[in-house]
Formats: sequence, structure tokens, C-alpha cells
Amino acid sequence: MKAIVCHEFAEPEKLAFEDVPDPQAKAGHVVVKVEAAGVNYPDGLLVQGLYQMKPPFPFIPGSEVAGVITEVGEGVSHLKAGMRVIALCMLGGYAEQVCVPATHVLPLPDAIPDDEAAALVTAHATAHHALKQRANLQPGETLVVTGAAGGTGLAAVQIGKQMGAKVIAVCSTAEKLEVARQNGADILINYTEKDLKTALKEVTDGKGADVVYECVGGDTFHACSRNMAWNGRLLVIGFACGEIPEFPVNLALVKGYSVVGVFWGSFTQHQPKEFAANMKELLTWYVEGKVKVIVDEALPLSRATDALHKVMGREVKGKMVLTP
Ligand SMILES: NC(=O)c1ccc[n+]([C@@H]2O[C@H](COP(=O)([O-])OP(=O)(O)OC[C@H]3O[C@@H](n4cnc5c(N)ncnc54)[C@H](OP(=O)(O)O)[C@@H]3O)[C@@H](O)[C@H]2O)c1
Repeated sequence: MKAIVCHEFAEPEKLAFEDVPDPQAKAGHVVVKVEAAGVNYPDGLLVQGLYQMKPPFPFIPGSEVAGVITEVGEGVSHLKAGMRVIALCMLGGYAEQVCVPATHVLPLPDAIPDDEAAALVTAHATAHHALKQRANLQPGETLVVTGAAGGTGLAAVQIGKQMGAKVIAVCSTAEKLEVARQNGADILINYTEKDLKTALKEVTDGKGADVVYECVGGDTFHACSRNMAWNGRLLVIGFACGEIPEFPVNLALVKGYSVVGVFWGSFTQHQPKEFAANMKELLTWYVEGKVKVIVDEALPLSRATDALHKVMGREVKGKMVLTP
């Protein structure tokens, strides 16, 4: 089969599009014929050796796919060949086929097309887990989302709205803010035009935000950390600007708020039952039209490098997808 293979930690140009052996279904696993693979910011970090996980070479990146089961391993009874599924593979998704643990494969409702299904999981499931289990977001609370037109930011805007929050979107361009507005944001801040710390103070009437979904890091994190409400929850999601901020803990003490780490990949392994319940709720919301996936562009698998450049280059609104 064809796959995108990483032979060394380097820029995405160094990824190879080459023939590799077809995967076999191990015990407790299934093989999925990939119809679409989601492209995520962490994939770009992973191939450059900048992610917390450093797989041995050679490896195939790609953590989420939609497709059809072609082979079922020993001991798997709830999945069958021919089923359409969403699969969370952690690695191996940028390929024509991937072998996935059966515990991380979910039947795909007919209403969800392959490209949207492949883009639905990581971004939306992270936002869902973060706002539900980590922030315990309540109706009527204010939710600030940074990088709000990116993959997981846009998901947080939709899910925050769905949970009844007043959503404040923070983006770098008017075009991105318009996408956030169309997806449910109530208040828009362009942080390339306005000082974010001042703008957040103004739009929250000096009270600060109840919850912040912080994807960007660096100065953006610092501005948010100075605008938290009493009992607020500052969610650490990611560092898309490349800078991991250092945090003066006296701010949390004085303002009485919590800084809460979110690592969705680990959540799926530590709390599989809650993960399964979350996915059921998320897929139901999708089918009911309460959340949606914005696919910016679907590119052929051979153009994985272009897709990663677009994601890492701050050019995507919603999600990129690869189609083998
Ligand atoms: N904790 C978890 O479990 C988890 C799960 C998924 C993703 N993440 C992390 O969350 C972050 C966002 O992921 P994503 O998939 O939503 O990425 P994305 O689609 O690329 O969106 C990231 C957003 O960050 C903003 N940004 C600011 N400075 C940037 C820079 N120098 N380069 C690129 N983007 C920049 C951009 O918005 P503006 O142009 O509007 O500023 C961009 O839209 C990443 O750090 C990712 O690793 C964490």
C-alpha cells in the first residue's frame, strides 16, 4: 500500500510517499481501509521531533481516520468487516490502510461523510473533553477561545455555544473572526489589532473570563491569565505560536482561579468509559446538527506535506483532510 513515511525528524518536505507492506489485523485489532485522514497540528510537531511523543523510525504519522473495516483480528466480536468506522490510530493514519485497536474504533453513522468524520474526532473531542470534564463549563458562563478559527478552537466555539456559554472568539484576521461568528461566537476580538489584555477586560466588564480555551501560548496565554474571573478555569490546550509560557502562580492565588491541563490522547487511555460516552454524545450532536465540521480543503494523500504546511502556516479555517 502507499503511505506517508517519516524516516527522520525534519521539515515536512522530508516525508516520503512510498510503498510499505499492508498491515495485518493483530489480536484485538482491526484493519481499516482509509477513506479520509484528519490532519492535525500535532502531526506537524511529531514529524519534526517537537512533540512529547517520539516514535521510533520509520513511522507513518496520522492519528485519526474514517474508512471501512477490511479485516478483524482474533478476539474482536463487536466489529465486522464492511462496517464504516471512525478510528483513532495515534499513528499510521496517513496511509491506504491502518491497523487500529478495536477499543479505539467507533461505528460511523451514515449521515456523516468520510472527510468530515476524519476531521471530527481530535479537534472536537478535545474541545468536548476540555469543556465538559476539565472546565465543567456551565450555561451562562463566559468562554474565551483563542485561535478560534483553527481546528480545535472552532470546535470549542461550537461546543461552548452548545453548552450554553457566551463565547468570545480571539483570532488574527477579520476573515477568521467571521468564520468563528458563523459557528456561534457572540463577541469577536482581533488580537492583531487590539491589545488582548485590554480587550478581554472590556468585553467581560472587568470581571474576567469564567473559562479560557487557550490554544496559542506565549503572550496570548499571559493576556488571558490576567483576565480570569473568580473560580475561573484557564485550560492549557496547546502552544501553536511555538512558545510555552511560564506562569507566575501568584496570579492563580490572588484571583482564585485554576490552571487546568488538557491532554485528550491520554484521557482516551486513562478513562476509556468516559471517552466512549463523550464520543456517543458528540456523534449524536453532529447528527442533530448541533456541531459541524468545517473542512477547509481535502488533498490527496501524496500532498501531505502541503497539508501540514498549511496547518503549521496558520492558513487553515477549520480542518485539513487527506484522501488516499
Ligand atoms: N491538549 C490536547 O489534547 C490537544 C489536542 C489537539 C490539539 N492540541 C493543540 O492545540 C493547538 C491548536 O491545534 P489545532 O489543531 O486547532 O491547530 P490549528 O488548526 O493550526 O489552529 C491553531 C491556531 O493557532 C493560532 N496561531 C497563533 N500563532 C500561530 C503560529 N505561529 N502558527 C500557527 N498557528 C498559530 C492560529 O489562529 P490565529 O491566526 O487566529 O491566531 C491558528 O488558527 C496546537 O498547539 C495543538 O498541538 C492540543
